[in-house]
Amino acid sequence: MKLLSAYGVALLAAQAAGVAIKHRINGLTLTEHPDAAKRELLQKYKVKALGFNCVSFYVDWALVEGKPGEYRADGIFDLEPFFNAAKEAGIYLLARPGPYINAESSGGGFPGWLQRVNGTLRTSDKGYLDATDNYAANVGATIAKHQITNGGPIILYQPENEYTSSCCSVEFPNADYMQYVEDQARNAGVVIPLINNDASAEGHNAPGTGKGAVDIYGHDSYPLGFDCANPTVWPSGDLPTDFRTLHLEQSPTTPYSIVEFQGGSYDPWGGPGFAACAELLNNEFERVFYKNDFSFQIAIMNLYMIFGGTNWGNLGYPNGYTSYDYGSALTESRNITREKYSELKLLGNFAKVSPAYLTASPGSLTTSGYADTADLSVTPLLSNGTGSFFVIRHSDYSSEDSTSYKLSLPTSAGTVTIPQLGGTLILNGRDSKIHVVDYNVSGTNIIYSTAEVFTWKKFSDSKVLVIYGGSGEHHELSIATKSNVTVVEGSASEITSKQTGKAVVIGWDVSATRRIVQVGDLKVLLLDRNSAYNYWVPQLATDGTEPGFSTQETVASSIIVKAGYLVRTAYVEGADLYITADFNATTAIEVFGAPSNAKNLFINGDKAKYTVDKNGIWSTEVKYTAPDISLPSLESLEWKYLDTLPEIQSSYDDSLWPDADLDKTPNTFRELTTPTSLYSCDYGFSTGYLLYRGQFVATGNESTFLVDPQGGSAFGSSVWLNGTYLGSWTGLYVYSDYNATFDLPQLEAGKTYVITVVIDNMGLEENWTVGEELMKTPRGILNFELSGREASAISWKLTGNLGGEDYEDKVRGPLNEGGLYAERQGFHQPEPPSQNWKSSSPLDGISEAGIAFYSASFDLDLPTGWDVPLYFNFGNSTTPEPYRVQLYVNGYQYGKYISNIGPQTNFPVPEGILNYRGTNWVAVSLWALSSEGAKLESFELSYTTPVLTALAEVQSVDQPKYTARKGAY
Ligand code: GAL
Repeated sequence: MKLLSAYGVALLAAQAAGVAIKHRINGLTLTEHPDAAKRELLQKYKVKALGFNCVSFYVDWALVEGKPGEYRADGIFDLEPFFNAAKEAGIYLLARPGPYINAESSGGGFPGWLQRVNGTLRTSDKGYLDATDNYAANVGATIAKHQITNGGPIILYQPENEYTSSCCSVEFPNADYMQYVEDQARNAGVVIPLINNDASAEGHNAPGTGKGAVDIYGHDSYPLGFDCANPTVWPSGDLPTDFRTLHLEQSPTTPYSIVEFQGGSYDPWGGPGFAACAELLNNEFERVFYKNDFSFQIAIMNLYMIFGGTNWGNLGYPNGYTSYDYGSALTESRNITREKYSELKLLGNFAKVSPAYLTASPGSLTTSGYADTADLSVTPLLSNGTGSFFVIRHSDYSSEDSTSYKLSLPTSAGTVTIPQLGGTLILNGRDSKIHVVDYNVSGTNIIYSTAEVFTWKKFSDSKVLVIYGGSGEHHELSIATKSNVTVVEGSASEITSKQTGKAVVIGWDVSATRRIVQVGDLKVLLLDRNSAYNYWVPQLATDGTEPGFSTQETVASSIIVKAGYLVRTAYVEGADLYITADFNATTAIEVFGAPSNAKNLFINGDKAKYTVDKNGIWSTEVKYTAPDISLPSLESLEWKYLDTLPEIQSSYDDSLWPDADLDKTPNTFRELTTPTSLYSCDYGFSTGYLLYRGQFVATGNESTFLVDPQGGSAFGSSVWLNGTYLGSWTGLYVYSDYNATFDLPQLEAGKTYVITVVIDNMGLEENWTVGEELMKTPRGILNFELSGREASAISWKLTGNLGGEDYEDKVRGPLNEGGLYAERQGFHQPEPPSQNWKSSSPLDGISEAGIAFYSASFDLDLPTGWDVPLYFNFGNSTTPEPYRVQLYVNGYQYGKYISNIGPQTNFPVPEGILNYRGTNWVAVSLWALSSEGAKLESFELSYTTPVLTALAEVQSVDQPKYTARKGAY
């Protein structure tokens, strides 16, 4: 509690994915976007505006130590610009560097070379621990440098991730192991508190449990699960009810912490899509489930994810596709138009101004005493006159009924039955409310309010309280005052009030038209929820232009602004009040509490004319005129084409390819069933497409070839014998490997043949259960059989990305490119040597099985001052031939599209990867997995509503262009 009382507000955090590192930012996970630091800053203002004060981030080890012993966290992988941006935005950070992170990322963040480690992953085995040392020391030192004790934003450190489940007789939980991970952080200079995230509330490593204990115990919770296919179904029993009891059993001395609470869901290949996930985990889910968490007096609440982002550059695990939108409050293209963003803002801002919540005493859920119907359940958080909170919901939490009720609440004015002035309180289906009692608004005691509190502020000459209710609801408010009620805005006729001498009671029906009542020096804004969504509470920076961290002082300094899409910051310079904000429509702006010395209003740097009404509210308007956005037609670019499967030509020379000649595998997960290892990670190839070439001299008696390639869920594979196409496995989500037998044509005795196998590696498995070792699940060829021949008759070579762990592209990192010829050569980068390539478009495609590669450039000239989300869209209206596409934008892989599996057809690519004012290079690999060939049905660049933005100009990330690669084959 010491930690929390320093902030005076609950720690509301959220994981987000940001930066180029798919550092997944929980609430923001860093490990995602080669998206410049400015981007992060932007995400953070959007998080800050929610009323949140912290962001958690994962660091993905695989991205920063692609080669064992070489930690490289520079350029897009540099954490420091992200840390600096967080500090600037006044957002604390919770660092989650693993080494294991899960996160729907390839290998759960483990680099591919860990498949070769001698030792069980996530245990005390020396081979594994030694492998972690270099990463842990480096990332730990960077985190230590930016922890709060050194003036940085990082306040918490999470060792490991969901160290909760085991199998296969490994020692578990292994206190020595957990202690080792913690010592690594401490040895690197990390002094901030350690917090863990048990996968469920099982008390692992809680303080007092001895070796390996953390400072603050926390657990995770995903109550509605991950099945987005039925987005309106809330199965019975899914709402947690025992968290408080477990907390008191497991870690009563630490602030109650949920380190990952469900903020959305992942979605598999072929899944229902993220719009369905956003619906399942929508604003109603937030209302009921997050307020339920509040009923347990949650003190640290971290949402996973608030912004998921993109699995660019092979970052994802095999069960997920390119988008990691997650159905989160911030969409993959950084929009905040989902209602769940607005709903979250109501709750976050309420927590920010309700410190009494942290000191009240939570009671048990009850159906009697507070509400007059057993259809409703109430959890009280009680205090003696200093702020009580009553969390109400339907007893059947998934009920869609509207239930009327009376409340009986203990207040400083005695127990009151509410409503006192007539009318009926209603709780609609899938709603939950927090009724406040003896709520302190800067010295004014709100005896109770049935309408919910959004925020309140004390200004130099008045106080403002903003409360809201659902449309059509009746509400009542009682204030300890001898003053009368005056309706200073809106119609008085719909508002009833009664003075009792010591208190005033006000009743009203919620209306879409705002009413303001004045009681003494307090103005109360009566809003409906949808109007409340338009209110923002920026902390007013008085020193400089940045809001600063959320402390009692900075929170108290905030102003209230009614605007539209987003208000980012507010600050005063002399007599000038500056507001920065984003707009997606013409927007009326009102300012409540403009400082008395402020005389001029500037919106996004432009002086605004404003009026002041009798209540002191400043009003102005920002006009939105949609800019002209003209985007090139991708279909009519000057596309250049290259066959990127030269391997099947008779003249092809593979002498530079690595031999697959290891007769033992270091991989302990699965024994070899082939004479030499064909596991790609044994040879340093762990990302992107894999190619194998097996050479043999025929006897003429071979009739079939069986091969069992393994690429992970939804993978595909194609096989050729010399130039003859044998066939493909086109992929299904449920198959990670697939045994296929192909008939061979009559082979000529004594002649040399080459079998070429192409495998789509979907990423490495995660390693959630300790001991199961799933991350070591091999990629490549598990088994093969050439009929009538010994397996040793075939000698194999293989390739993935050029150089494997000695990867070529140090800028875009170790995972971005795979093993296609064009990728090995670097042709996916800007300015490939395409002058002599054939002119042909991916819309023309190819007429037989194979893999084509296309490159083209286009210019963009988007207006400055606008945030315009852009998407590459692949048409899929008919059932096309099965094909797989990789999309490269300025050398960054930003999409894997599978025509016969889906669901993703639209691929957002952020500004900074795209040059919005300049030249861009787009490349597409098109793999036809049928003898009919394949072509893109359509390919378009599109945009969604341009947002007039206060976001500073986005700097593009480094986009090295093609240069001939030494030793490329
Ligand atoms: C948790 C894990 C996260 C993420 C989440 C599901 O178990 O800690 O990393 O995988 O589940 O999205």
